[in-house]
Amino acid sequence: MTRTTMTRHFLKDTDLSPAELTEVLDLAAELKAAPYSRTPLAGPQTAAVIFDKTSTRTRVSFAAGIAALGGQPLIINPGEAQLGHKESIADTAQVMSRMVSAIIWRTYAQTGLEEMAAHSTVPVINALSDDFHPCQILADLLTIREHRGTLAGLTMSYFGDGANNMANSYALGGVNAGMHVRIAAPADHQPDEAIVAEANQLASTTGGSLTVTDDPVAAAFGADVLITDTWVSMGQDSAGRDDDASPFVKYQVTQELMNSGNDAMFLHCLPAYRGKEVTAEVIDGPASAVFDEAENRLHAQKALLTFLLESR
Ligand code: CP
Ligand code: NVA
Repeated sequence: MTRTTMTRHFLKDTDLSPAELTEVLDLAAELKAAPYSRTPLAGPQTAAVIFDKTSTRTRVSFAAGIAALGGQPLIINPGEAQLGHKESIADTAQVMSRMVSAIIWRTYAQTGLEEMAAHSTVPVINALSDDFHPCQILADLLTIREHRGTLAGLTMSYFGDGANNMANSYALGGVNAGMHVRIAAPADHQPDEAIVAEANQLASTTGGSLTVTDDPVAAAFGADVLITDTWVSMGQDSAGRDDDASPFVKYQVTQELMNSGNDAMFLHCLPAYRGKEVTAEVIDGPASAVFDEAENRLHAQKALLTFLLESR
């Protein structure tokens, strides 16, 4: 495959073309089978992982993955750097680019990541923003492929907050993989028009599709994968979102919903709230692959880092 010599970033799901997405997932499977077979960070080079929000999976998987690639992770916890209060994103990007081989950042605004990437000469990776969580979708796609053998043509249905980072990334990442993505969410919590338009445009080239509905039963019918996420994302006010009157109650993933799928598997990016977005019966049941999914963060991100570092 021809690669550009420009620095590549991964800020949203569509920053990988469909062919590149397959390449990264193939590499992730290779690295899962042979964890120390690639060392693009040998030296050891340092990769910075900056957190403006809390994390377990992202923190541990990037730290372990960077080490396994021969590198040294530099974890910067919320409030520890000058970034965000004393120093601009542009200056931070220029300083860090001279010292580290990649900048991985969990933050609020997607525009912040775009600014970081615009001023960075090393790859910038979105480790979750208010708008997207593309690293999580790589892990999810890897997990689905492991369990189902393929991605293109499968139906992946997401239930709950259809306007959050996970929903946006499932819409774009799933369609990028040629999947039929359904988002079931209350009318005032559905994806922005811009996300729907981008997914529809992409669908015309990948053969995938995006359907947005307020009907959870219709969204589950015949689906291969059922997915949900917390009703309250980091940085959001929980008021009116997670009580008994929450508009998301109707979108809880129950065994009954699972039963109307096509021998469906269940995924959740975690952390999960049993009794809210999913019942304990489903997430702790035989169709749940949530811990395979969590493990796959490690393998998918190692592949992503290798791809981006070798693309430079
Ligand atoms: N799924 C996920 O990103 O988990 P953390 O918030 O623990 O990193
Ligand atoms: N939507 C959730 C995902 C957590 C991994 C959040 O942003 O908090």
